Amino acid sequence: MNIIWHNQSKQYHLFNEKISYIMCVTPVGEIGSIYFGKRIHDKDDMSYVINRFALPNVTVDPDTESYSMELNRQEYPSFGTTDFGTQAYEVEQPNGSRISSFVYRNHRIYRGKPAITGLPATYASEEEAMTLEITLADNFAKMTLTLFYTIFKDHPVIARHVAFKNEGASAVKLTRALSACVDLPDMDYEWMQFSGAWARERIPEVKKISTGALSIESKRGTSSANQNPFVIVKRPDTDDFMGEAFGFSFVYSGNFLAKAEGNSFGRLRVLMGIHPDRFTWVLNPGEIFETPEVVIAMTDCGLNGLSQTYHELYNNHLVRGKWKNTPRPILINNWEATFMDFDEEKILSIARTAREAGVELFVLDDGWFGERNDDYAGLGDWIENPKKLPQGMAGLSSKINALGMKFGFWIEPEMVNPNSNLFRRHPEWVLAAPGRKSSLGRHQLVLDFSREEVVDHIYGMLKKVIGDAKISYIKWDMNRSLTEVFSPDLNADEQGMVYHKYVLGVYSLYERLTNEFPDILFESCSSGGNRYDAGMLYYAPQAWCSDNTDSIDRIRIQYGTSYGYPISSIGAHVSAVPNQQTGRTAPIETRANVAYFGTFGYELDLNTLSEEEFDKVKEQIRFMKEHRELLQFGTFFRLRSPFETDQAAWIVVSKDRKEAIFGFYCLRSNVNMMPGFLKLAGLDPDALYELDGEEYYGDELMHMGVALTDLCSDGLATGKDFVSYVKTLKVK
Ligand code: DGJ
Repeated sequence: MNIIWHNQSKQYHLFNEKISYIMCVTPVGEIGSIYFGKRIHDKDDMSYVINRFALPNVTVDPDTESYSMELNRQEYPSFGTTDFGTQAYEVEQPNGSRISSFVYRNHRIYRGKPAITGLPATYASEEEAMTLEITLADNFAKMTLTLFYTIFKDHPVIARHVAFKNEGASAVKLTRALSACVDLPDMDYEWMQFSGAWARERIPEVKKISTGALSIESKRGTSSANQNPFVIVKRPDTDDFMGEAFGFSFVYSGNFLAKAEGNSFGRLRVLMGIHPDRFTWVLNPGEIFETPEVVIAMTDCGLNGLSQTYHELYNNHLVRGKWKNTPRPILINNWEATFMDFDEEKILSIARTAREAGVELFVLDDGWFGERNDDYAGLGDWIENPKKLPQGMAGLSSKINALGMKFGFWIEPEMVNPNSNLFRRHPEWVLAAPGRKSSLGRHQLVLDFSREEVVDHIYGMLKKVIGDAKISYIKWDMNRSLTEVFSPDLNADEQGMVYHKYVLGVYSLYERLTNEFPDILFESCSSGGNRYDAGMLYYAPQAWCSDNTDSIDRIRIQYGTSYGYPISSIGAHVSAVPNQQTGRTAPIETRANVAYFGTFGYELDLNTLSEEEFDKVKEQIRFMKEHRELLQFGTFFRLRSPFETDQAAWIVVSKDRKEAIFGFYCLRSNVNMMPGFLKLAGLDPDALYELDGEEYYGDELMHMGVALTDLCSDGLATGKDFVSYVKTLKVK
């Protein structure tokens, strides 16, 4: 890993063993792109890449008379001169102009990686990463902007963000401040996005890129289940096993825009950042605005390679504290077992049986506080309901601890029901537009987390409940989108700051709680997977992946999630049948076979199971305890896509390739078909593996494949609906 500055040619080369990222100070003084891709040799001067053709109808810089931004690749394109593509930022200056040209002032190269104030970001030591900061200045706007690039030693990744500073005497308005722009020299690419809605999150969609723009966005205040802030730009023939691709992952949990735009000269521009709609940041003299981070990864060996990069990077350089690379406790959550209808005895009866099965952590979900007996009341009143918890959280937690289990509970700190003491006392603490009605979501309103006093109040209440009891886990939920986003605390000019300030408020509460209670495992949740993003992973190393607990649907949801997020982050539970969301009845084996590839737990009352099923649960828990480190932190490969076939398969392989576990799932049976083979991946080709008591070479399993004869029923079908198996391989 190194960052070289070629003084003569004014070029930068950031590289590690896998990638090169080359830039230059352009003839107009802005920063341009020369190359991003597989590692290439360093050279003093690559200016031959800069286009100086005087094409008809192209505008050029007056000093150079030949350089047009439109015909060249930019690193952080500005508005108002010779580039007509989507700009990365826009500054409204006191005279109303938005034209800008920030030109090179200086740069710094150093080891390590700086934090971003108030925002989540990847981190690295001086041995693990190097950073380049390039500061540009616009003398008319009297501002600087600093581009940050970090290259990691062991990962094909560049992390980027930007800081703006007002050096003038008057306030300016940032009306757009994206985090990164990558211009590529051709547009023979496809765009892959992860879209959906509640209960069907992160389903991959692939589109051809051409001239014009493709984009995804969220304007819901959260990153959302509808579009995930992670996209892939890949060659058309790139699949999971081969080919070139770039990933763009936004370390942010609010509104976002991700856009790909091909121009008429073959240039492909990819941009990502806070959504510019409804965003205006007032920057007073001397103030700095820092954007969130975008993590850009590159692969030349297929999408499994790209995903593994994100898995490794996020497990080692984003997740912090005690739970970094720590196998997750097997939990039981009472939500689907009781909803809000419970008392302490009911909870203890679920807990006792779960303990007998080997479960390690009990999670008390929604309904324990205030007048929360249905979803019309109580949010905001974070005080135990004595009818349900006579000795409070402390009493219940010590009873659960006495059974030999850890204990945790559910909160939804950003919300308030109109029917709550908090709202009655502080109706002005919600996001609401004066004189207009407030839209409801699940009968609740959104607290104005852009205000410090609101965050302080919620912090105080939660600190008390958590601090009084012995708490090992918190599930932090968030169950609606933001509407009527207006804060009475800010003046008219500043209303464009509310969405981002809200996210900063959420992060500040997370920061305070995780600092105060460093041993607690946080799981983020937003009606399932409505806020599944890299920003959340910085605070909460796991996320409830979806409210859809049907194992067959979960195969698709978890498969899609695995493109951008580590398996250790995927909250996955075995729930009751018929499934509460889909009505589907899948065997208990399949329900566990899917949940193993996640954090693993149960979401049902184990007392309702037959003796035979209960024995199976005990065996599942024993299996998970034995293999969870490999399952959650091994190298994960997608093998067969449920989006392309009626089957799915995936495998995790240990770092030393001596052990592996694969899962195979038949989503729908097809009659009168040959069973075929499943090719495994990631194994040591020369090693002899034991599988089902037989020996096989790694290359045999990877290139010939495992015969799927187990799935043949009476020679008529390749499987039965919902049948699955999980198998372990070990080098002898
Ligand atoms: C939505 C979550 O996704 C569920 O798991 C559950 O916690 C409910 N909220 C509780 O209200």
